[in-house]
Amino acid sequence: MADVAFKETVAWPQCKSALSTNTRRTEQINELVEARLKNLSVEQKVAQLIQAELASIKPDDVRRFGLGSILNGGGVSPNANKRASIEDWWNLANEFQSAARESEAGIPIFWGTDAVHGHNNVFSATIFPHNIALGAANDSDLMERLGAVTARDVQDTGIDWVFAPTLAVPCDYRWGRTYEGYSQEPEIVARLGSAMLRGLQGDPASTEFFDENHVLATSKHFVGEGSTRDGIDQGDTFCSEIDLLNIHALGHIAALKAGAQVVMAAFNSWNNEKVHGSSYLLQDVLKGQMGFDGFVVSDWDGFAQLDDDLETACVRSINAGVDMLMVSSDWRGVYERVLNAVTSGEIDAVRLNDAVGRILRVKALRGMLTSNWRLPSTRSKRTLGSKSKRELAREAIRKSLVLLKNSHGLLPLKPGKRIVVVGKSAHDIAQQCGGWTLTWQGTNNVTDDFPDAASIASGIRTKVRDAGGTVSFTDEVDADTEADVAIVVFGEEPYAEGEGDLNHLSFSRWDPTALVQMKVLKDLGIPVVALFLTGRPRWINPELNASDAFVVCWLPGTQGGAVADVIFKDGADTVRCDFAGRLPFSWPLDSSLTSIDRDSNQRDSYLPVGYGLSYEDKVSFEQLTELDETTGTSLRGPSFSGSYNYPNP
Ligand code: BGC
Ligand code: BGC
Repeated sequence: MADVAFKETVAWPQCKSALSTNTRRTEQINELVEARLKNLSVEQKVAQLIQAELASIKPDDVRRFGLGSILNGGGVSPNANKRASIEDWWNLANEFQSAARESEAGIPIFWGTDAVHGHNNVFSATIFPHNIALGAANDSDLMERLGAVTARDVQDTGIDWVFAPTLAVPCDYRWGRTYEGYSQEPEIVARLGSAMLRGLQGDPASTEFFDENHVLATSKHFVGEGSTRDGIDQGDTFCSEIDLLNIHALGHIAALKAGAQVVMAAFNSWNNEKVHGSSYLLQDVLKGQMGFDGFVVSDWDGFAQLDDDLETACVRSINAGVDMLMVSSDWRGVYERVLNAVTSGEIDAVRLNDAVGRILRVKALRGMLTSNWRLPSTRSKRTLGSKSKRELAREAIRKSLVLLKNSHGLLPLKPGKRIVVVGKSAHDIAQQCGGWTLTWQGTNNVTDDFPDAASIASGIRTKVRDAGGTVSFTDEVDADTEADVAIVVFGEEPYAEGEGDLNHLSFSRWDPTALVQMKVLKDLGIPVVALFLTGRPRWINPELNASDAFVVCWLPGTQGGAVADVIFKDGADTVRCDFAGRLPFSWPLDSSLTSIDRDSNQRDSYLPVGYGLSYEDKVSFEQLTELDETTGTSLRGPSFSGSYNYPNP
């Protein structure tokens, strides 16, 4: 429970956006909502609170029950077909909307999706770098453009709502969702997250807001998820209320000011109380002090974690301030429990009307409560892949790469040389995309799942061949390997929430292959450029020592070919692009460290936030060569009993 003393001293800011200060529009919307509310039966009201998952709901159910919303969970697509076409999505969206219109209440439905790095559940969409990479690029204008393009892609599948941006401030890199956060710096999260939100939704002060080129965004997850003990997903965050406000809520404050209309409750607890059941955080703080007038959606069955008895759990969550329940499968059971609780008075009419009214208000903003609202099928259609989208993705990648080390000015490479590219990761688009890509964890994807993609290898091949050099590709190196330069591409395999939690950060303890190869190359006197694919800082001192140049590529997405734009000179001996990316998180150089550096007396043990070399700096060539390689006894590990993607030695 929140400390009473803190309640008295911590003042949460009012977060008005241009939407709420537009009084004329607000009055019109309120009138529309009031008129609708009056005519809804209790059953119809309860149905608006339910968000059912695609795999468990059919348009006929929506026709019959008039549910408020559906979602497709990670990796769920029309007809369970991972390669469903844009038409399949579009048609299904239209079927659901027609069904909603034909239901007794006749209120259009919201469809939500996790478009968290492009429209990533949809076959052939351009996949952008994950948020950690965008934090390294730290460019608000780029964020807004990425948001706008993502919004159009989502619209083109008939969907109107995305569960993004994630405004977490990850503090422990063992957390498998670290890459969903932009930075450890709350100010960067706030600036980039609100720019993304503006791109997705449009300017709240203009008529473009949430129009047919834009989507509804989500300020997620409220609040404190990045600081759970030991980085355990859905764990417990222990911190003072002032830290909750100044560190973890800063992104949400900026998002609300930029016009966020949906807030997703976080799975984690704060000081032992689950956020999904915290009326202090949801009612008093968010809807009260901060003045949030949109609706709160639960996370995936998050309400159900409050009690073993489903009805009790629903009641506690709704009474704490959750307005819409995201249900993984048993939406019918949840609907009946909530209806029961409303009938018995456990959820009173005031609370019910408040929740439904909030949802209808957002539907009204979309024009869904007036007769001229159009089904997606009546709008103009476009296609997902396009040259301009791919070029935008490439720009994002070029700006996000961080150069940790560049001994003897090895980079930029001259393309007219003999180059060997080492490692299967160079070709592995699935790995370059990471989690939340076609499947929930990003696993079980193959190259053919990405028709429009360009791997890191393909970019290198084009560069070198165009310049008259030679390039070969191999997964193994030995004493016969010959080349002027080797580029070793390696990194983390895809993971997402839960599965991606670690209990130590050492990369080579998990997979020593690349390190061994680098050492062989070094013995042969072949200079090594290391390209590291990762969703978080890992402890990589051995790899840093064994390479001459080291680039963090993060999880670049489907246009990894752009890496070559930065690491090579253009034909005419000029640099095409300099390194612009800077570390968005401090990077541990001590194997016992697992979390961020907010503590000044440990500064020497990290590369600090903002670190990153560029060609212009002409930096000395001796850095990061004799780093301490001892691991072992000092490794700290959490007492975590969940599942691991990785073996933990
Ligand atoms: C995640 C959310 C996501 C939701 C829907 C949850 O497990 O925490 O970020 O939006 O599922 O897929
Ligand atoms: C995720 C969903 C996913 C599901 C798989 C959830 O926690 O958020 O998007 O499809 O798990 O079981």
